[in-house]
Amino acid sequence: MDEKEKRQLLEDAVNHIIPHFASWELLRKQPKIFVRGEGCYLYDIDGKCYLDTFASLLTTICGHHQPVVDQAIRDQLEKLEFFPNYVDTFTVPLIELARKLDSIMPGDLGVCFFVNSGSEANETALKMARQYHLENGEHQRYKVLFRRHSYHGTTLGGSSATGLPWFREYFEPLLPGYVASYSARCALCELGLEPSSCDLACLKMMEQQIQWEGADKFSALIMDPVPGSNIGFPVPPDGYLQEVRRLCDRYGMLLIFDEIQTGFGKTGRMFACEHWDVVPDIMAIGKGFTGGYIPLAATVTTPHIYKAFQKAGHELRSGSTYGGHTLGCAATLANIQVIEEQGLVEKARVQGEYLRRKLEQLGRHKIAGRVSGIGLLQALFMVSDNATNAPLDPGLKVGNFIRDYCYDNGMIMRNNGDILVMAPALIITEEQIDEAVGILEQALVAATRHYKL
Ligand SMILES: Cc1ncc(COP(=O)(O)O)c(C=O)c1O
Repeated sequence: MDEKEKRQLLEDAVNHIIPHFASWELLRKQPKIFVRGEGCYLYDIDGKCYLDTFASLLTTICGHHQPVVDQAIRDQLEKLEFFPNYVDTFTVPLIELARKLDSIMPGDLGVCFFVNSGSEANETALKMARQYHLENGEHQRYKVLFRRHSYHGTTLGGSSATGLPWFREYFEPLLPGYVASYSARCALCELGLEPSSCDLACLKMMEQQIQWEGADKFSALIMDPVPGSNIGFPVPPDGYLQEVRRLCDRYGMLLIFDEIQTGFGKTGRMFACEHWDVVPDIMAIGKGFTGGYIPLAATVTTPHIYKAFQKAGHELRSGSTYGGHTLGCAATLANIQVIEEQGLVEKARVQGEYLRRKLEQLGRHKIAGRVSGIGLLQALFMVSDNATNAPLDPGLKVGNFIRDYCYDNGMIMRNNGDILVMAPALIITEEQIDEAVGILEQALVAATRHYKL
């Protein structure tokens, strides 16, 4: 492609496409066009190669171009590209995928409602909880408890349950009955307490909120067992998730786990909640579920919950045309096959420990602060001096400088302000981790020099 054609593509991209959560700052600098992917690497329109440490927004967990998945899509394409999962119709890949999920998901989770995106999966979970109580004669259970600092999607239900002001501010007032509660970000505890002595005070406060709002008013608590990249993967303290489960049972609320970021091996277990042996009533899955191939997500619940909808005229009132797309199901089944056959969950655990050690070693640079995360979900907090943990002046935008430096030097890395987050594909090797942390270290040195830190 000649330079003129490339310029035209960029111009048309900027003028005719609104990117999701667009950044004017980045669009003005240099919009990017990717044309090819291979394993953990991406190639742009100029042929430049990038190591992707964020796996295409936490999706391509088996890497690009997995032969098994490519072939499964081709095979399915020969037979049937799509028929909807509507009213009383199914396709074979859809059933096989549901069967597979039943076998790998924790506890009794094994009844699926297939949708197109993580947001829709959470939206369905919220609707499912409301209707479940209604079917049981508890019409008054319309409230939803959610936690500050968690993200649950872009729809109005998902935004209402999201505890990050940036995603909410333009759309207030959001849905009534959504009650914000405490997060479990122990390193930045909202109550100013220490995990060694707090006695899970945040959950005691949560319980008081439930009582104050009405002990029989809540349909569900929606939460992410390990919150996501927006706040640097804070791992919950011991006993926290077990106590959350008890709280929901005590007040008759359903427990919804959003494992859209954390599911399918990234934490070193197939699902994050398995680290603590806590099973929710409903789980939302997406992102890595499909390996990035074709949009597909799911809301998975138990036969007990499903029973509430299994009466004439009382079906779950939800649906979308493409939910459970035939090709998407074939690709997803093959993606799970790759995860299992290549032992990627265990690899993620091992490589995650290696990545964490490497990131912790960056502490020799004054601006590299604490590391937080689990498995291959790891975050490095930038600070002005790691001896005191004093934060950087956010106005300097050091995190953005580091992101841009990495990009210029052939690495895609996500930052949220001064939190640098890494969530590479589960197939990443030690050599590739060395490469990534090497580029990051150069970026830290460049930032220290640039800002005279
Ligand atoms: C934890 C979590 N929940 C929900 C979503 C929404 O998923 P989607 O963007 O596929 O709608 C995301 C996406 O980033 C997420 O990270």
